[in-house]
Amino acid sequence: MKEIKKITCIGAGYVGGPTMSVIAQKNPNVTITVVDLNQARIDAWNDTDLEKLPVYEPGLDAVVAEARGRNLFFSTNVEQAIDEADMIFISVNTPTKTYGKGKGQAADLKYIELCARQIAAVAKSDKIVVEKSTLPVRTAAALKSILDNTGNGVNFHILSNPEFLAEGTAVTDLHNPDRVLIGGEDADAIEALVQVYEAWVPRERILTTNLWSSELSKLVANAFLAQRVSSINAISELCEVTGANVDEVSRAIGYDSRIGSKFLKASVGFGGSCFQKDILNLVYIARSYNLTEVADYWEQVIILNDHQKARFAENIIQTMYNTVNGKKIAFLGWAFKKDTNDTRESAAIYVADHLLEEEAQVIVYDPKVPAEQVYKDLDYLGTRSPEDNRRLVTVVNDPYEAMHGSHAIAILTEWDEFKCYDWPRVKEDMKKPAFVFDGRKLLDRNKLSMLGFNYYAIGE
Ligand code: UDX
Ligand code: ADP
Repeated sequence: MKEIKKITCIGAGYVGGPTMSVIAQKNPNVTITVVDLNQARIDAWNDTDLEKLPVYEPGLDAVVAEARGRNLFFSTNVEQAIDEADMIFISVNTPTKTYGKGKGQAADLKYIELCARQIAAVAKSDKIVVEKSTLPVRTAAALKSILDNTGNGVNFHILSNPEFLAEGTAVTDLHNPDRVLIGGEDADAIEALVQVYEAWVPRERILTTNLWSSELSKLVANAFLAQRVSSINAISELCEVTGANVDEVSRAIGYDSRIGSKFLKASVGFGGSCFQKDILNLVYIARSYNLTEVADYWEQVIILNDHQKARFAENIIQTMYNTVNGKKIAFLGWAFKKDTNDTRESAAIYVADHLLEEEAQVIVYDPKVPAEQVYKDLDYLGTRSPEDNRRLVTVVNDPYEAMHGSHAIAILTEWDEFKCYDWPRVKEDMKKPAFVFDGRKLLDRNKLSMLGFNYYAIGE
C-alpha cells in the first residue's frame, strides 16, 4: 500500500478549511494543500491576522497557527496541487438546484463534475479521490465514470468520507469525532485513508462500509437530526395552546435513554447548509424510485420547519396589534446557530422576509455576520428590490444601538452574549410595551417579566 505523503483538498469552505487544518495538525509529515478558485477566500486563509480567517470557528485560529506554513498550505493553483497529490479530497459546494429538473430539491452537481474533469485532465499518476461534500447516493459512480473516461489512463480509487462536524463546534468535533465513516471498494485505498485518521482517532471509531452505504448514511444522519428538531418544534406549538412548557417536555422525554436528551431544543426553526439540502436530496431520491410514502414522510420535516419560521413571524405581528408597519424590530442574531458566521438557510432570513412584507423596520445585530452578508441573504430571496431591502433593514455593530427605540426584540440566534446584556437599560430605552420574542428560549422569563418586558418564547 502506498503511503500518503501529499494531500490536496479542492474547496476551502466551511468543510474543507477546518477539516484539512485538523488533518494537517495531526499529521505533521503529510503535506496538505487546500485550493480554491476564490482568490479572496484563499488570501483570507493566508492572512497573518488570524481574526480574518474566512470561517469563524472557536479554536480554529490556534490549529491554523500551528500547521500553516509547516505542512498546511492554501493556494489557488488547483492544477499543480492536483498533479502533486496522492490523495484528493473534494469539498466543493453542492447547493440545491435552482433550475431545471429537480429544481428546489436535487443537489446541483456541476461543481463536483467540474472538479472531476479537472482532476482527470491533470492527473499523471494514480490518485485516491475522496468525496467529502455531501452528495446524493451514487455520485461516486458518476465521479468514477468521468475520471475513467476522460483521464490519462491512470487509476482512480473513489472513497466516500462524509463529514459529520457541526459548525460552531467544528474543531472539537474534528478532534474527537463520534465516528469517522469511510466507504469504498478498494481495500488499499480505504486503508490509506484510515491511516490518516488513525493519527488521532481510535481505530474502533473508524467505520468502513461500501460506497453506497457511506453516501446514504450521511443523508440519513442529517435527516434524523433534523427530524428531531421538527418533532420537538411540532410539540412546541401544541405546548403553546395547552399550557405545557416544551423545555419541561424535552427534559422529561430526554431522560429516557432510548430517546436521549440531545437535539430536543425547540427553536424558531433549523437552518444551515445541510439539513434542508440533505432531506430534499433524500426526498428526491425516494421520489425518483416512486417511493411516494417515503418521500412524503421526510418532506414533512421541512414543511414543519417552514411552518415554525412563519408562525414565529406571524406571532410577532399578531401580538403587536396586527401591524408592524413602520415599527422597529431589533433582531438579535442572524447566523443559523451560535458560534458561526454562517448564515445559509438561517431562520432569521425567513422571519425577516415575512416581517418586511408587512413593512417593518428591521435592525440587525449579529456578533459575527457583516452587513453585506445580511443584504446578500435578503437579496437572494428575490422577494423585493435590493433598494427596498436597504430601505427597510439596517445592520449595526452595537446591540444597544439595535435595540434603542425599538418596539420589539426578536432573538433569532442563541449567542451567549445576549444573556448578559444590561436588560434594565434595554427596557428603559425601548418603546412600550416592550416586547421580546425569544425564538431560542435563551432568556430568563422570570427576570424579563419582573423588569416589565412582555416576554414570549417558543413553546410556552
Ligand atoms: C449538521 C449536523 O449536526 C452535522 O453532523 C453535519 O455534518 C452538518 O449538519 P450544522 O448544520 O453545522 O450540523 O449544525 P447543527 O448543530 O446540527 O444545527 C442545525 C440547525 O438545527 C441549527 O439551526 C440549530 O440551531 C438547529 N437546532 C439544533 C435546533 O433548533 N434545536 C436543536 O435541538 C438542535
Ligand atoms: P461547504 O460548506 O460545503 O464547505 P462552501 O461554499 O463553504 O461549502 O465551500 C465550497 C468552496 O468550494 C467554495 O469556496 C468554492 O469557491 C469552492 N469551489 C467550488 N468549485 C470549485 C472548483 N472547481 N475548484 C476549486 N474550488 C471550488
